[in-house]
Amino acid sequence: MTTELPAITITRPDDWHLHVRDGAMLASVLPDTARQFARAIIMPNLKPPVATVEQALAYRDRILAARPAGSDFTPLMTLYLTEQTTPEEIRRASECAHVYAVKYYPAGATTNAASGVTDLERVMPVFEAMQETGLPLLMHGEVTDGEIDIFDREAVFIDRHLSVLVKRFPELPMVLEHITTAEAASFVEDGPANLAATITAHHLLLNRNALFEGGLRPHHYCLPILKRELNRQALVRVATGGNPKFFLGTDSAPHPKSAKESDCGCAGMYTARTALELYAEVFDQAGALDRLEAFASFNGPDFYRLPRNTGSVTLCRDTLDIPDEVDFGGQPGVPFRAGGRTAWRMA
Ligand code: DOR
Ligand code: ZN
Repeated sequence: MTTELPAITITRPDDWHLHVRDGAMLASVLPDTARQFARAIIMPNLKPPVATVEQALAYRDRILAARPAGSDFTPLMTLYLTEQTTPEEIRRASECAHVYAVKYYPAGATTNAASGVTDLERVMPVFEAMQETGLPLLMHGEVTDGEIDIFDREAVFIDRHLSVLVKRFPELPMVLEHITTAEAASFVEDGPANLAATITAHHLLLNRNALFEGGLRPHHYCLPILKRELNRQALVRVATGGNPKFFLGTDSAPHPKSAKESDCGCAGMYTARTALELYAEVFDQAGALDRLEAFASFNGPDFYRLPRNTGSVTLCRDTLDIPDEVDFGGQPGVPFRAGGRTAWRMA
C-alpha cells in the first residue's frame, strides 16, 4: 500500500533578492534558481559594480546565456547606487525594460559594497528622480559605524535613516531587504504603503546561536548577521501572517568554501539549491502553509507592479538530502544545511 504524501501546489514563485555572481560561478549556481523560480531580482554587487544601464544589460545577457537549455527564467536587473549615479542614469533605467530597481549599499556594509554611499545626502537628487519615475529603491539597511554593535546596525539604520527617508519620499517604492529584527518587522508593518521588506529563508530558520553551535560556524555568517531568537520569531510572524508588504527574497549568496573557511571569512549563505523547500518548512512549522503562495508568488509582483506568474510548482512533505559540497565554478562550495536534509521536496 502506498500512502499519498501531503503536497501543496502554488503559483510559480519569484526570488526578489538574489546574488548569482558572474563567469564560471554564475554558470554553476544559476540552474538552482532557474529550477525553482520564474524571475529573480539580481543584485548588482559585482566587481566592478553594475552601476549603469549599459552594464546591467551586458550582465543580463551573460545571465541569459547561463540558463539551462529550455529555461524561461527571467533576470530582473538592478543598478548599484554610487555617489556618481546621476538622475539622467535613473531616467534611462526607468525607460529600460530590463532594469527594475536601484540597490543602495552603505559604503563598506557588506561584500563588494566599497563603491556604496558614504552619505545619503549626496544621493538625494537620485532618490528624487527615482520617486518621479517610480523606480524602486532596495536598501541594505545597516549602518556601518564601527562603534555600533553589529547586532544593532539594522535597528540603528531604521532610527537614523529609514525613518527620515519614508517621510521625505512618500511616493518612492522602497524595499528594506533581508530584514532580521523585530524592529524592522514592526517598522515595515506600521509604515507607509510604499515600504515593503524581503525576508530570507536563513533568517526565518536560524538564530545567532547557529553561529557558534559546537564551535565557530563560518557557513552561518551572513549580513545582516543572524539575530537572537525573539527576532527570528518576529520575522516568522510577519512572513507567515499574510501581510502583503512582506515577500520572498533569498539573498542566496555563493562564496567558494575557501573564502568562507578563512581567517576573514566572507558573508553569505547559499540557499538557492533548496530555497523553496526551506520556506515551506518555515510556513509548515507555523501552521501557515496556506499563506506560502502569497509570500512567494503574489506579494512581490504586486509590490513591483508586475504580472503574477502563470504555471505552478508542487512541494511534497518529503525529504531531500543536501550534499556536503557543490561545485561553484570549479571550486567547492558549501550549501546551506550541507550534509543534512530538507523536510519538503519540490516535485
Ligand atoms: O551575507 C551577505 N552576502 N549579505 C550581503 O549583503 C551581501 C552578500 C554577498 O554578496 O555575498
Ligand atoms: Zn544580498
